[in-house]
Amino acid sequence: TEQLIANSIAVLNANWRDGFTVPSGQLYPFQWNWDSGFTSIGTCLFDLGRALLEMETLFTGQWDNGLVPHIIFHSEKETTYFPNFDFWETTVNAGAPQKPKTSGITQPAVHGFVLQHLLNRFPNEEKVKAWVQRLFPKVVAYHRFLYTYRDPHHEGLMFMFHPWESGRDNSPLWDESMDRIVIDKATLPAYTRRDTKIAAADERPTADQYDRYVYLLELGKKHQYDGPGIAEESPFLVQDTMMNAILIKSNASLIRIGEQFGFDVGELKEWQAQSIPAYQRKFWNEDLQTFTGYDLRGEKQIIGKEIGALVSLTAGIADEKQATALKTYLQQLHDRGFYLCPSFDVDSPRFDSKRYWRGPIWPHMNWLVHQGLQNYGFNDLADIVRADAIHLIREHGFYEYFESNKAQAASLTQGYGGDQFSWTSAVLLDFLD
Ligand code: DGY
Repeated sequence: TEQLIANSIAVLNANWRDGFTVPSGQLYPFQWNWDSGFTSIGTCLFDLGRALLEMETLFTGQWDNGLVPHIIFHSEKETTYFPNFDFWETTVNAGAPQKPKTSGITQPAVHGFVLQHLLNRFPNEEKVKAWVQRLFPKVVAYHRFLYTYRDPHHEGLMFMFHPWESGRDNSPLWDESMDRIVIDKATLPAYTRRDTKIAAADERPTADQYDRYVYLLELGKKHQYDGPGIAEESPFLVQDTMMNAILIKSNASLIRIGEQFGFDVGELKEWQAQSIPAYQRKFWNEDLQTFTGYDLRGEKQIIGKEIGALVSLTAGIADEKQATALKTYLQQLHDRGFYLCPSFDVDSPRFDSKRYWRGPIWPHMNWLVHQGLQNYGFNDLADIVRADAIHLIREHGFYEYFESNKAQAASLTQGYGGDQFSWTSAVLLDFLD
């Protein structure tokens, strides 16, 4: 265990740049939004100052309208990533910062609960309290952005218009929406992928999916990334289980923080009062016994058993009966010889145990689900979720994601995707603490 801890710290040290941590030196050479949140949770255990700086650096990329972009391109010289800052052309929006350059879409709203997590760990540290108070209004402004620009019907549920926003880029959940996009090669800008030069192509999204990612990026750009035209025009328009659960969890954290430090929390409470019942009403699927996201373009639930639903436990949204159903689902997967928690339904024909978000295990998801199971007192299963993540990292290395089928994993010596991965190392440190 001591060796594992030392190795985790070594990865995080190697990935540290000037004020932030890259997810993985080669594959993702800039600052990624939700990666940074999880990274801080690990870094604070050996270098608190760096953990605080990580989040402050992230917010230097915040737009005037409150958006916290999914990538902050602190370096304009790094050319090994696609789509780089020039492709995003965020100058179409007058409120985007000139420097640092950023992308024009967002990622799950982890920041509120990251503030709370560090405050819980260091309740008496003055510099943590000052940091929380500095960031609080920025995080609230970000939530206001989501409830303003991403909730046109004022339902209390945010939408995303690009799969990259969900963090679960190629989940089978998005297939139907993505199939709606008709690609015209003559109008799609020319581009060259970089990811498949660094990670194995069969562990990454497909070429057809990338064409659609670029299509949606162009659609965002056309509407200055926040125009009402996005909701009117985008073929991909989804209210996601995980993005909304994380937003709700962060709302709750901000309410607690606000009350502790004497900030106004009226607006946060209004959002929260609307969001939790809306999530319950719109997402629960009685037949599947899980929460399912909603396809706003197709006006229907997105049918599939997927990892995002489990984050409802982390946010305390599920009632006892729903929580028990989700727990039973995981318990059965464990009993059948899968590592927890596969990112997609192992019985679906669309399951692929090695391709990115179509089946593999993601350690930061285990971290979220572990906490969720503990919330409801399912401690034995929470222990398995934690132990599986530790085991996979110990046996297969500090990878981005891992094989979910135990029989198949037995013949492997490595994980999948990027190596020397920051959030893998960070959540491991927290698990081992
Ligand atoms: C990537 O490049 O694969 C990222 O997931 C997009 O943010």
